[in-house]
Amino acid sequence: MAQTSQAKAQTMRAVALDEFGGLEALKIQNLPIPQAEAQEILIRVEAAGVGAWDPFEREGRFVEIMGVKPTFPYVLGTDGAGTIAAVGKDVSRFKEGDRVYAAQLVNPKGGFYAQYAAIKSDNASVIPGHLSVEQAAVLPTDGLTALTGLEKILGLKSGESLMVFGASGGIGHLALQLAKRLGARVFAIASGDDGVQFAKKLGADRAVDGKGDNVLEAAKAFAPNGIDAALVTAGGEGTVEALLAIRKGGRIAYPHGVMPEPTAPDGVGIEAYDGETNRALIDRLNELIDAGPFEVHVDRVFRLEEASEAHEALAKHHLGKIALRIA
Ligand SMILES: NC(=O)c1ccc[n+]([C@@H]2O[C@H](COP(=O)([O-])OP(=O)(O)OC[C@H]3O[C@@H](n4cnc5c(N)ncnc54)[C@H](OP(=O)(O)O)[C@@H]3O)[C@@H](O)[C@H]2O)c1
Repeated sequence: MAQTSQAKAQTMRAVALDEFGGLEALKIQNLPIPQAEAQEILIRVEAAGVGAWDPFEREGRFVEIMGVKPTFPYVLGTDGAGTIAAVGKDVSRFKEGDRVYAAQLVNPKGGFYAQYAAIKSDNASVIPGHLSVEQAAVLPTDGLTALTGLEKILGLKSGESLMVFGASGGIGHLALQLAKRLGARVFAIASGDDGVQFAKKLGADRAVDGKGDNVLEAAKAFAPNGIDAALVTAGGEGTVEALLAIRKGGRIAYPHGVMPEPTAPDGVGIEAYDGETNRALIDRLNELIDAGPFEVHVDRVFRLEEASEAHEALAKHHLGKIALRIA
């Protein structure tokens, strides 16, 4: 393994849990820097994404669902970006100094709320040209989940109409733009006036406020014969009603985690799924992002020491994503 002197025999600062729990469980600690195994890279983390699912993981519910035995201190953070500090001996497509972003769910070596993270090299990519490190850090899980939903689960085709429910959120604002790039007509259901303005700016063909507007009426006006497909990122009564606008034979996808789980009207297919993380999909995401203007929206950036404030901010209305600045 090619471990640099910089990364050798040092400890790193991290936000780590000694046990699962509430905000008080998030503690700054000094921990050993993880080592990159043969097929891994060691990233000097500059920014981490704060996922909508991070509080759930902090409370220990993720490992329970996944049947994983946690090791403590437990470092949160599925998504992050930074500079490669070391590459494992079997990794040839990256070199020290490359600027990368990556995702790894429940990484036994620790997540991205830390100065260093050791990651499977297949889960990483060089940062697409125009993205800042914070934008790259928040992108992978939500971007890959959006893309898995649109292409693999919904099989979205050019010319089709798509409803994005939660279009101003993490997955939603990325899905909206990816769907436009795939040639779909997008009916965006965003949150609040600012969410509607945001969705319009990102290219939605029609954007409505899911917390104020008459969504069903607007959806029927948008597609009198019904909308072809829906990607749903938030649940509730409003979701069930909006989905009445999907045509018979249409299809609905939502990532596991959306609660309450949406239900489909008669004659409409519905599928819950998990976003995938692999090299081919990351390349596809980069290709679509690089094909023109694309906004990965970082609403707020917190310092590592402010991880608990970042978790509190997740529960409040915001657009797009939240990041931690590590370095
Ligand atoms: N299984 C997987 O692979 C996977 C991967 C990633 C995420 N997830 C899960 O997928 C879900 C969504 O993730 P995310 O990152 O997109 O979360 P998010 O950023 O919180 O997005 C959800 C969005 O929906 C909006 N919303 C809620 N009710 C609405 C309504 N009635 N009308 C319009 N918009 C509404 C929220 O706005 P407000 O904040 O203003 O309410 C928020 O912007 C989470 O449960 C997450 O854990 C699963």
